[in-house]
Amino acid sequence: SLGYINGRFVSLEELVLPIEERGHQFGDGVYEFFRVYEGHPFMLEEHLDRLYRSADLIRIDIAPDRDELRAIMDELVTRSGLASGDIYLQVTRGVAPRNHAFPSVPSSLTMTIKPWRELAPGVREQGVQVLLHPDERWLNCHIKSLNLLPNILAKQAAVEAGCFEAVLVRDGFVTEGSSSNAYLVRDGAIRTHPATNHILGGIARIAVRRIAEEQGIPFIEEAFGPEELLAADEAFLTSSGIELVPIAGVHGRGPIGSGSPGPVARAIHARYAELT
Ligand code: PDD
Repeated sequence: SLGYINGRFVSLEELVLPIEERGHQFGDGVYEFFRVYEGHPFMLEEHLDRLYRSADLIRIDIAPDRDELRAIMDELVTRSGLASGDIYLQVTRGVAPRNHAFPSVPSSLTMTIKPWRELAPGVREQGVQVLLHPDERWLNCHIKSLNLLPNILAKQAAVEAGCFEAVLVRDGFVTEGSSSNAYLVRDGAIRTHPATNHILGGIARIAVRRIAEEQGIPFIEEAFGPEELLAADEAFLTSSGIELVPIAGVHGRGPIGSGSPGPVARAIHARYAELT
């Protein structure tokens, strides 16, 4: 494991932030989570697009430009000696005496690289249970903001119900998971919520869309409700960390399809694994 803070590579123990860091006091920042496979962050350019876009949307200027940031990440991977790992990157509005309005200080960039957090055994092979949970978030879910309180409360409710993920429902429609995107499969077509301000446009979601196009599987961006989810042939979740995990059933509501991973989820994940 290794850390990085504003120009310095440090051990995780040395990576400490001042009390008046705005990420800490206000959640005033954005983040990215990349998975590194054999030394290379998967879909790096798409992640960097989203990072700079998220920062722009909350008016934070990331000091390193894209080429510099790519070089820093490369050095982080090399110095860590990890061939595979998870990179967590956070940009905040910097360190300044507590005051809601923007300070005139440089933004702050920190990163860590750590070994992969592995999925529990059997998860991908057997599929998981999900809990339907109200989506209590704000109207800018497309920004990868540090403010994750509704997400962690939903995830904890899922865990306490014995589920892997909370599937969020807003105005009668499934938006996404608390830390993943959600899909159903019906009559051979994949359906998922459109990439609006109500979801985080996942990078794994972009990969799934490309694979579906390549394999001739329709990829329909149209929201669905809980009843349609329950009546689906298959369903699955994606994120950079979990790649693709099939949904076997909805807590308290019964199985989806056969209750075990279906052919479309299997085919998409097999191709995903080839691309990483
Ligand atoms: N979460 N939706 C939400 C709300 C998320 O938090 C995430 C990812 C995704 C999937 O995005 P991607 O495919 O780019 O990983 C969708 C990350 C992994 C996290 O918070 O750790």
